[in-house]
Amino acid sequence: MKKCVVLSGAGISADSGLKTFRDAGGLWEGYKVTDVCTPEAFARNPDLVLDFYNMRRQQANQAMPNAAHEALVRLESYYHVQIITQNVDDLHERAGSSHVLHLHGELNKVRSCVDENEILVWTGDLKRSDTDGKGHPLRPHIVWFGEEVPAFPHAVEQVRDADVVMVVGTSLQVYPAASLLEFAPPQAECYLVDPNPRQAGRMVEVVPKKAKDGVPTLVEELIRRA
Ligand code: APR
Repeated sequence: MKKCVVLSGAGISADSGLKTFRDAGGLWEGYKVTDVCTPEAFARNPDLVLDFYNMRRQQANQAMPNAAHEALVRLESYYHVQIITQNVDDLHERAGSSHVLHLHGELNKVRSCVDENEILVWTGDLKRSDTDGKGHPLRPHIVWFGEEVPAFPHAVEQVRDADVVMVVGTSLQVYPAASLLEFAPPQAECYLVDPNPRQAGRMVEVVPKKAKDGVPTLVEELIRRA
């Protein structure tokens, strides 16, 4: 079976009603990154940070997967599909994707502020008074700006032997995630699905459509050629 690696960003969830970050009206228009998405912000004003992620967790858990997520599940019958997502929602998993790697963490998980390997599933609001089993404070299991991206080396290994790479709904502005495409083999077929496509770091075939329209059509084409 050929291998298709999908690098998804906020744009694939936009068709499920979730805001992107950098589009007009996006999350970073309403909040300053340095107020809600850095370790320093959490130390300075934990309630503001927790409120931000509680709001996003509630919105994400009320959203439903869209035709793009569902098409990527269908593709699994014809390709080995590895999703590598910058998104922290679980829409890929809820659609039924089997292999999902989150580069920037997950909204429905929290972790101990003392032991980063102690990760708990958490689908409700997180309050400052909440603690782990040892009484230690908890934080969102999200990679904040300035923090390491532990899953990146594994993501690079996944891209290195891809036959097809599909980039969906990302502005490719945040590193190291944006550099992943460069690790794809020279002979890999690369596609970029985005209504406002940015310059990718290598030759890609651009599908200038929304994910819910462009991904199902591209998947059918890939299935025809599987
Ligand atoms: N379908 C497909 N793509 C879309 C759609 C849609 N319906 N709507 C918008 N887009 C595209 C935009 O054109 C843009 O290229 O999705 C991309 C969204 O870009 P960003 O808002 O920058 O989101 P993303 O690339 O995922 O951000 C990366 O930045 O703030 C951090 O950690 C955060 O994971 C996030 C990272």
